[in-house]
Amino acid sequence: MIAKEDDGMLSGQRQPEDLANIALRPRSLKDLIGQDQVKNNLEIQIKAAKQRGEALEHVLFYGPPGLGKTTLSHILATEMGVNIKVTSGPAIERAGDLAAILTNLHVGDILFIDEVHRLGHNVEEILYPAMEDFALDIIIGKGPAAKSVRLKLPRFTVVGATTRLALLTAPLRARFGAVYRLDYYDEEALVAILRRGAELLALDYEEDGIREIARRSRGTPRIALRILRRVRDYAQVRGDGVITAEIAISSLNMLNIDVMGLDELDRRVLLCIIEKYAGGPVGLNTVAASVSEEADTIMDVVEPYLMQLGFLERTAQGRVATALAYDHLGKPFNGNREQPPLFNQHS
Ligand SMILES: Nc1ncnc2c1ncn2[C@@H]1O[C@H](COP(=O)(O)OP(=O)(O)OP(=O)(O)O)[C@@H](O)[C@H]1O
Ligand SMILES: [Mg+2]
Repeated sequence: MIAKEDDGMLSGQRQPEDLANIALRPRSLKDLIGQDQVKNNLEIQIKAAKQRGEALEHVLFYGPPGLGKTTLSHILATEMGVNIKVTSGPAIERAGDLAAILTNLHVGDILFIDEVHRLGHNVEEILYPAMEDFALDIIIGKGPAAKSVRLKLPRFTVVGATTRLALLTAPLRARFGAVYRLDYYDEEALVAILRRGAELLALDYEEDGIREIARRSRGTPRIALRILRRVRDYAQVRGDGVITAEIAISSLNMLNIDVMGLDELDRRVLLCIIEKYAGGPVGLNTVAASVSEEADTIMDVVEPYLMQLGFLERTAQGRVATALAYDHLGKPFNGNREQPPLFNQHS
Protein backbone atom coordinates (compact mmCIF):
# COMPACT_ATOMS: atom_id res chain seq x y z
CA MET A 1 0.00 0.00 0.00
CA ILE A 2 1.53 3.26 -1.09
CA ALA A 3 0.05 5.42 1.64
CA LYS A 4 1.51 3.09 4.22
CA GLU A 5 4.99 3.48 2.80
CA ASP A 6 4.63 7.22 2.89
CA ASP A 7 3.49 7.11 6.48
CA GLY A 8 6.52 5.05 7.30
CA MET A 9 8.78 7.43 5.55
CA LEU A 10 7.43 10.36 7.45
CA SER A 11 6.85 8.75 10.75
CA GLY A 12 10.36 9.55 11.90
CA GLN A 13 10.67 5.97 13.02
CA ARG A 14 13.77 3.98 12.26
CA GLN A 15 13.97 2.13 8.98
CA PRO A 16 16.66 -0.08 7.52
CA GLU A 17 17.76 2.52 4.99
CA ASP A 18 18.94 4.61 7.91
CA LEU A 19 21.91 2.29 8.12
CA ALA A 20 23.13 3.73 4.85
CA ASN A 21 22.72 7.07 6.52
CA ILE A 22 25.13 6.49 9.36
CA ALA A 23 27.79 8.52 7.57
CA LEU A 24 25.53 11.54 7.96
CA ARG A 25 25.46 11.22 11.72
CA PRO A 26 27.31 14.04 13.46
CA ARG A 27 30.26 12.69 15.48
CA SER A 28 31.03 15.52 17.87
CA LEU A 29 29.05 18.12 19.79
CA LYS A 30 30.55 20.73 17.51
CA ASP A 31 29.12 18.95 14.43
CA LEU A 32 25.68 18.69 15.96
CA ILE A 33 23.38 21.39 14.65
CA GLY A 34 20.58 22.84 16.80
CA GLN A 35 19.49 21.76 20.31
CA ASP A 36 21.68 24.56 21.67
CA GLN A 37 20.45 24.37 25.21
CA VAL A 38 21.03 20.64 25.48
CA LYS A 39 24.41 21.05 23.82
CA ASN A 40 25.53 23.80 26.20
CA ASN A 41 24.51 21.81 29.25
CA LEU A 42 26.22 18.67 27.99
CA GLU A 43 29.38 20.59 27.22
CA ILE A 44 29.62 21.72 30.82
CA GLN A 45 28.74 18.29 32.15
CA ILE A 46 31.45 16.67 30.02
CA LYS A 47 34.10 19.24 30.90
CA ALA A 48 33.39 19.00 34.60
CA ALA A 49 33.48 15.20 34.62
CA LYS A 50 36.73 15.22 32.67
CA GLN A 51 38.35 17.75 35.00
CA ARG A 52 37.45 15.62 37.97
CA GLY A 53 38.54 12.50 36.17
CA GLU A 54 35.16 10.90 36.84
CA ALA A 55 32.61 9.03 34.81
CA LEU A 56 29.74 11.10 33.45
CA GLU A 57 26.60 11.22 35.56
CA HIS A 58 23.72 9.12 34.24
CA VAL A 59 21.95 10.93 31.40
CA LEU A 60 18.41 10.58 30.08
CA PHE A 61 17.29 11.89 26.68
CA TYR A 62 13.62 12.09 25.85
CA GLY A 63 11.55 13.43 22.98
CA PRO A 64 9.84 12.40 19.74
CA PRO A 65 11.58 9.95 17.37
CA GLY A 66 14.30 11.11 15.00
CA LEU A 67 15.49 14.19 16.89
CA GLY A 68 18.92 12.86 17.82
CA LYS A 69 18.76 10.86 21.06
CA THR A 70 20.86 7.98 19.73
CA THR A 71 23.18 10.38 17.93
CA LEU A 72 23.79 12.34 21.13
CA SER A 73 24.52 9.19 23.10
CA HIS A 74 27.26 8.22 20.67
CA ILE A 75 28.61 11.75 20.73
CA LEU A 76 28.81 11.56 24.53
CA ALA A 77 31.02 8.48 24.26
CA THR A 78 33.25 10.12 21.67
CA GLU A 79 33.60 13.32 23.66
CA MET A 80 34.39 11.43 26.86
CA GLY A 81 36.73 9.10 25.00
CA VAL A 82 35.03 5.98 26.36
CA ASN A 83 33.45 2.84 24.98
CA ILE A 84 29.74 2.62 24.40
CA LYS A 85 27.74 -0.54 24.82
CA VAL A 86 24.38 -0.36 23.07
CA THR A 87 21.26 -2.19 24.18
CA SER A 88 17.55 -1.51 24.61
CA GLY A 89 14.76 -2.04 27.12
CA PRO A 90 13.04 -4.89 25.26
CA ALA A 91 16.38 -6.57 24.42
CA ILE A 92 17.23 -7.17 28.08
CA GLU A 93 14.78 -9.91 28.89
CA ARG A 94 16.08 -11.36 32.13
CA ALA A 95 17.90 -9.93 35.11
CA GLY A 96 20.79 -12.25 34.23
CA ASP A 97 21.17 -10.56 30.82
CA LEU A 98 21.70 -7.21 32.48
CA ALA A 99 24.08 -8.69 35.08
CA ALA A 100 26.20 -10.09 32.23
CA ILE A 101 26.33 -6.70 30.52
CA LEU A 102 27.17 -4.88 33.75
CA THR A 103 30.02 -7.16 34.74
CA ASN A 104 31.66 -6.61 31.36
CA LEU A 105 31.79 -2.83 31.64
CA HIS A 106 35.00 -0.92 32.21
CA VAL A 107 35.53 2.26 34.19
CA GLY A 108 33.87 5.24 32.48
CA ASP A 109 32.05 3.13 29.87
CA ILE A 110 28.68 4.24 28.64
CA LEU A 111 25.80 1.80 28.68
CA PHE A 112 23.25 3.12 26.21
CA ILE A 113 19.76 1.79 26.88
CA ASP A 114 17.34 2.72 24.12
CA GLU A 115 13.60 2.57 24.85
CA VAL A 116 14.51 2.56 28.49
CA HIS A 117 10.81 2.78 29.46
CA ARG A 118 10.41 -0.80 28.25
CA LEU A 119 12.74 -2.43 30.79
CA GLY A 120 11.15 -5.29 32.67
CA HIS A 121 10.44 -4.89 36.36
CA ASN A 122 12.99 -7.50 37.52
CA VAL A 123 15.64 -5.99 35.25
CA GLU A 124 15.02 -2.55 36.71
CA GLU A 125 15.50 -3.93 40.24
CA ILE A 126 19.06 -4.89 39.26
CA LEU A 127 19.66 -1.56 37.61
CA TYR A 128 18.79 0.56 40.66
CA PRO A 129 21.76 -0.42 42.87
CA ALA A 130 23.98 -0.59 39.79
CA MET A 131 23.25 3.03 38.94
CA GLU A 132 23.24 4.31 42.49
CA ASP A 133 25.95 2.37 44.30
CA PHE A 134 27.74 0.70 41.37
CA ALA A 135 26.91 -2.60 42.94
CA LEU A 136 25.37 -5.80 41.69
CA ASP A 137 23.43 -7.97 44.08
CA ILE A 138 23.38 -11.58 43.05
CA ILE A 139 21.82 -14.57 44.74
CA ILE A 140 23.97 -17.64 44.99
CA GLY A 141 22.35 -21.02 45.58
CA LYS A 142 18.70 -21.90 45.99
CA GLY A 143 16.18 -22.31 48.78
CA PRO A 144 17.14 -21.76 52.41
CA ALA A 145 20.86 -22.01 51.64
CA ALA A 146 20.68 -19.14 49.15
CA LYS A 147 22.63 -16.05 50.03
CA SER A 148 22.99 -12.65 48.49
CA VAL A 149 26.40 -11.43 47.44
CA ARG A 150 27.22 -7.87 46.51
CA LEU A 151 29.65 -7.39 43.62
CA LYS A 152 31.37 -4.09 43.03
CA LEU A 153 30.98 -2.62 39.56
CA PRO A 154 33.23 -0.08 37.87
CA ARG A 155 31.92 3.50 37.79
CA PHE A 156 30.04 3.67 34.51
CA THR A 157 27.39 5.83 32.93
CA VAL A 158 23.90 4.86 31.88
CA VAL A 159 22.57 6.90 28.99
CA GLY A 160 18.87 6.25 28.56
CA ALA A 161 16.65 7.28 25.66
CA THR A 162 12.88 7.28 25.47
CA THR A 163 10.04 8.74 23.45
CA ARG A 164 7.77 8.32 26.48
CA LEU A 165 9.03 9.96 29.61
CA ALA A 166 5.67 9.38 31.29
CA LEU A 167 6.09 5.61 31.10
CA LEU A 168 9.36 5.65 33.02
CA THR A 169 8.96 4.46 36.60
CA ALA A 170 9.65 7.14 39.20
CA PRO A 171 12.57 5.29 40.87
CA LEU A 172 14.33 4.80 37.54
CA ARG A 173 13.81 8.38 36.48
CA ALA A 174 15.17 9.59 39.81
CA ARG A 175 18.46 7.81 39.17
CA PHE A 176 19.32 9.93 36.16
CA GLY A 177 21.39 12.90 37.28
CA ALA A 178 20.70 14.81 34.07
CA VAL A 179 17.49 14.73 32.07
CA TYR A 180 17.36 16.42 28.67
CA ARG A 181 14.33 17.01 26.53
CA LEU A 182 14.91 17.18 22.78
CA ASP A 183 12.67 19.55 20.90
CA TYR A 184 11.65 19.87 17.28
CA TYR A 185 14.20 21.78 15.18
CA ASP A 186 13.43 25.15 13.67
CA GLU A 187 13.66 25.85 9.96
CA GLU A 188 17.16 27.36 10.11
CA ALA A 189 18.58 24.38 11.97
CA LEU A 190 17.00 21.99 9.48
CA VAL A 191 18.35 23.98 6.56
CA ALA A 192 21.81 23.71 8.09
CA ILE A 193 21.39 19.97 8.67
CA LEU A 194 20.21 19.46 5.08
CA ARG A 195 23.05 21.55 3.70
CA ARG A 196 25.52 19.43 5.62
CA GLY A 197 23.81 16.26 4.36
CA ALA A 198 23.79 17.50 0.78
CA GLU A 199 27.51 18.32 0.97
CA LEU A 200 28.33 14.92 2.42
CA LEU A 201 26.30 13.20 -0.30
CA ALA A 202 27.87 15.51 -2.91
CA LEU A 203 24.48 16.70 -4.19
CA ASP A 204 23.80 19.65 -6.47
CA TYR A 205 21.27 21.90 -4.78
CA GLU A 206 19.86 25.35 -4.66
CA GLU A 207 19.26 27.06 -1.33
CA ASP A 208 15.50 27.36 -2.03
CA GLY A 209 15.22 23.66 -2.70
CA ILE A 210 16.79 22.78 0.62
CA ARG A 211 14.61 25.30 2.42
CA GLU A 212 11.45 23.83 0.95
CA ILE A 213 12.43 20.43 2.33
CA ALA A 214 13.29 21.95 5.72
CA ARG A 215 9.86 23.57 5.97
CA ARG A 216 8.08 20.32 5.38
CA SER A 217 10.14 18.00 7.57
CA ARG A 218 8.10 18.14 10.76
CA GLY A 219 11.01 19.68 12.60
CA THR A 220 12.77 16.31 12.48
CA PRO A 221 16.29 15.70 11.11
CA ARG A 222 15.62 12.06 10.34
CA ILE A 223 12.64 13.00 8.17
CA ALA A 224 14.52 15.90 6.56
CA LEU A 225 17.41 13.66 5.52
CA ARG A 226 15.05 10.95 4.31
CA ILE A 227 13.12 13.42 2.16
CA LEU A 228 16.43 14.76 0.87
CA ARG A 229 17.23 11.33 -0.53
CA ARG A 230 13.80 10.99 -2.13
CA VAL A 231 14.14 14.43 -3.68
CA ARG A 232 17.59 13.50 -4.94
CA ASP A 233 16.05 10.52 -6.76
CA TYR A 234 13.33 12.72 -8.16
CA ALA A 235 15.81 15.36 -9.33
CA GLN A 236 17.86 12.67 -11.04
CA VAL A 237 14.92 11.08 -12.87
CA ARG A 238 12.67 14.07 -13.59
CA GLY A 239 15.18 16.92 -13.64
CA ASP A 240 18.86 17.41 -14.34
CA GLY A 241 19.99 16.26 -10.92
CA VAL A 242 19.87 19.67 -9.25
CA ILE A 243 17.64 20.05 -6.20
CA THR A 244 15.79 23.24 -7.05
CA ALA A 245 12.73 24.62 -5.28
CA GLU A 246 10.57 23.46 -8.17
CA ILE A 247 11.93 19.92 -8.01
CA ALA A 248 11.57 19.85 -4.23
CA ILE A 249 7.97 21.07 -4.39
CA SER A 250 6.86 18.56 -7.04
CA SER A 251 8.64 15.77 -5.27
CA LEU A 252 7.11 16.64 -1.89
CA ASN A 253 3.68 16.87 -3.45
CA MET A 254 4.15 13.47 -4.98
CA LEU A 255 5.06 12.14 -1.54
CA ASN A 256 1.78 13.61 -0.28
CA ILE A 257 3.50 15.90 2.19
CA ASP A 258 1.59 19.15 2.49
CA VAL A 259 2.87 22.68 3.05
CA MET A 260 2.89 22.26 6.82
CA GLY A 261 4.76 18.98 6.55
CA LEU A 262 1.71 16.89 7.40
CA ASP A 263 1.50 13.49 5.78
CA GLU A 264 -1.39 11.24 4.91
CA LEU A 265 -1.70 9.82 8.43
CA ASP A 266 -1.59 13.23 10.14
CA ARG A 267 -4.39 14.44 7.92
CA ARG A 268 -6.39 11.26 8.37
CA VAL A 269 -6.24 11.66 12.13
CA LEU A 270 -7.39 15.28 12.00
CA LEU A 271 -10.11 14.56 9.44
CA CYS A 272 -11.36 11.67 11.53
CA ILE A 273 -11.71 13.90 14.59
CA ILE A 274 -13.34 16.69 12.59
CA GLU A 275 -15.66 14.68 10.36
CA LYS A 276 -16.60 11.70 12.49
CA TYR A 277 -16.49 13.25 15.95
CA ALA A 278 -17.44 16.87 15.29
CA GLY A 279 -13.97 18.06 16.24
CA GLY A 280 -13.85 16.10 19.48
CA PRO A 281 -13.27 15.50 22.27
CA VAL A 282 -12.70 11.88 21.30
CA GLY A 283 -10.57 9.19 22.93
CA LEU A 284 -7.21 8.12 21.48
CA ASN A 285 -8.24 4.51 21.05
CA THR A 286 -11.38 5.48 19.17
CA VAL A 287 -9.31 7.60 16.77
CA ALA A 288 -6.75 4.83 16.38
CA ALA A 289 -9.45 2.30 15.52
CA SER A 290 -11.09 4.70 13.04
CA VAL A 291 -7.88 5.31 11.11
CA SER A 292 -6.64 1.70 11.54
CA GLU A 293 -3.36 2.64 13.19
CA GLU A 294 -1.67 1.67 16.44
CA ALA A 295 -2.58 4.00 19.30
CA ASP A 296 1.14 4.10 20.20
CA THR A 297 2.11 5.38 16.77
CA ILE A 298 -0.51 8.10 16.93
CA MET A 299 0.58 9.11 20.40
CA ASP A 300 4.36 9.02 19.79
CA VAL A 301 4.60 10.18 16.20
CA VAL A 302 1.47 11.97 15.05
CA GLU A 303 0.21 13.87 18.06
CA PRO A 304 3.36 15.60 19.31
CA TYR A 305 3.79 17.40 16.01
CA LEU A 306 0.11 18.26 15.62
CA MET A 307 0.14 19.69 19.13
CA GLN A 308 3.30 21.63 18.38
CA LEU A 309 1.52 23.22 15.41
CA GLY A 310 -1.50 23.97 17.59
CA PHE A 311 -3.73 21.71 15.47
CA LEU A 312 -4.61 19.34 18.28
CA GLU A 313 -5.25 19.51 21.98
CA ARG A 314 -5.22 16.74 24.52
CA THR A 315 -7.90 17.29 27.12
CA ALA A 316 -9.15 15.15 29.97
CA GLN A 317 -12.16 14.24 27.79
CA GLY A 318 -10.06 13.34 24.76
CA ARG A 319 -8.51 14.78 21.63
CA VAL A 320 -9.83 18.03 20.19
CA ALA A 321 -9.10 19.51 16.75
CA THR A 322 -8.50 23.26 16.93
CA ALA A 323 -9.73 26.05 14.64
CA LEU A 324 -6.25 26.09 13.07
CA ALA A 325 -6.67 22.48 12.03
CA TYR A 326 -10.05 23.25 10.44
CA ASP A 327 -8.47 26.15 8.55
CA HIS A 328 -5.56 24.10 7.35
CA LEU A 329 -7.84 21.37 6.03
CA GLY A 330 -10.29 23.87 4.56
CA LYS A 331 -13.14 22.83 6.81
CA PRO A 332 -15.61 25.43 8.10
CA PHE A 333 -15.11 25.92 11.81
CA ASN A 334 -18.15 26.57 13.95
CA GLY A 335 -16.88 28.10 17.17
CA ASN A 336 -20.04 27.04 19.01
CA ARG A 337 -19.92 23.49 17.82
CA GLU A 338 -20.66 22.26 21.31
CA GLN A 339 -24.05 23.97 21.42
CA PRO A 340 -25.58 23.90 17.97
CA PRO A 341 -28.77 25.95 17.70
CA LEU A 342 -31.80 23.77 18.32
CA PHE A 343 -34.17 25.78 16.15
CA ASN A 344 -33.84 27.97 13.12
CA GLN A 345 -34.15 31.71 13.74
CA HIS A 346 -37.00 32.14 11.26
CA SER A 347 -40.06 29.93 11.54
N1 LIG B 1 21.33 17.66 15.16
C1 LIG B 1 21.48 16.86 14.12
N2 LIG B 1 22.25 17.21 13.09
C2 LIG B 1 22.37 16.42 12.02
N3 LIG B 1 21.78 15.22 11.89
C3 LIG B 1 21.00 14.82 12.89
C4 LIG B 1 20.81 15.61 14.06
N4 LIG B 1 20.00 14.95 14.88
C5 LIG B 1 19.68 13.81 14.26
N5 LIG B 1 20.28 13.72 13.06
C6 LIG B 1 20.13 12.64 12.10
O1 LIG B 1 18.80 12.16 12.21
C7 LIG B 1 18.77 10.76 12.27
C8 LIG B 1 18.00 10.31 13.47
O2 LIG B 1 18.67 10.63 14.66
P1 LIG B 1 18.68 9.61 15.92
O3 LIG B 1 18.76 8.22 15.43
O4 LIG B 1 19.73 10.08 16.84
O5 LIG B 1 17.25 9.91 16.51
P2 LIG B 1 16.57 9.32 17.84
O6 LIG B 1 16.11 10.51 18.62
O7 LIG B 1 17.47 8.36 18.50
O8 LIG B 1 15.29 8.57 17.27
P3 LIG B 1 14.50 7.29 17.90
O9 LIG B 1 13.61 7.82 18.98
O10 LIG B 1 13.69 6.77 16.75
O11 LIG B 1 15.53 6.32 18.38
C9 LIG B 1 20.21 10.26 12.27
O12 LIG B 1 20.45 9.67 11.02
C10 LIG B 1 21.06 11.50 12.42
O13 LIG B 1 22.10 11.48 11.49
MG1 LIG C 1 17.36 6.30 18.67
